[in-house]
Amino acid sequence: MLSVKKLLPLYGFGLLLAGFLPGCGGMRKPSPPIKAIATLEEVMHGMVIPNAEVVWKSVGTIYTAKGVEEIQPHSEDDWLRVEASATTLMEAGNLLMMDGRAKDQGHWMERCKALRDAGDTVRQAAKAHDVAALFERGGYLFDSCQGCHFEYRFEKDPKTMRTH
Ligand code: HEC
Repeated sequence: MLSVKKLLPLYGFGLLLAGFLPGCGGMRKPSPPIKAIATLEEVMHGMVIPNAEVVWKSVGTIYTAKGVEEIQPHSEDDWLRVEASATTLMEAGNLLMMDGRAKDQGHWMERCKALRDAGDTVRQAAKAHDVAALFERGGYLFDSCQGCHFEYRFEKDPKTMRTH
């Protein structure tokens, strides 16, 4: 039979656990009354796509009949625009994690974090006015989009699913 002495440490552990489990701890801060308004598609169109385009269109090389044109941010305003878009993409990562949009608590969260992290690398490149880094990190950003899409957006169509 369990004695009180044996139960006490268990009780202590229970309290500890209760402190960590959401909803069980008495000392938890009440969560703010946020709720997801936009659908996933609306977040993509309203926030993710336009800001990703700002990043991708800000740097690159265009080959035309007339010659080669290098594109990159020049003025402080140009750089700030890229930085603001990167920051917005990071926040979009947070929005995609919210109840009502998150498709699960596992991989989905990792994919949202990947968007946030890729956004951060772009943001740092913009802060540093580093053109080469901006170009390279635009690629990281694209990878973060596709990583989620292959897992969650194209899931219903096996033809578009990556098998490796
Ligand atoms: C965490 C997951 C996730 C990330 C990250 C993500 N997307 Fe999406 N995206 C989705 C899902 C899911 C859909 C399908 C939404 C639907 O149809 O309900 C979608 C749809 C889209 C669509 C199609 C919208 C339409 O009209 O059908 C585009 C374009 C798109 N995303 C662009 C992007 C770009 C660009 C990025 C990166 C900068 C990105 N997404 C990052 C999950 C993600």
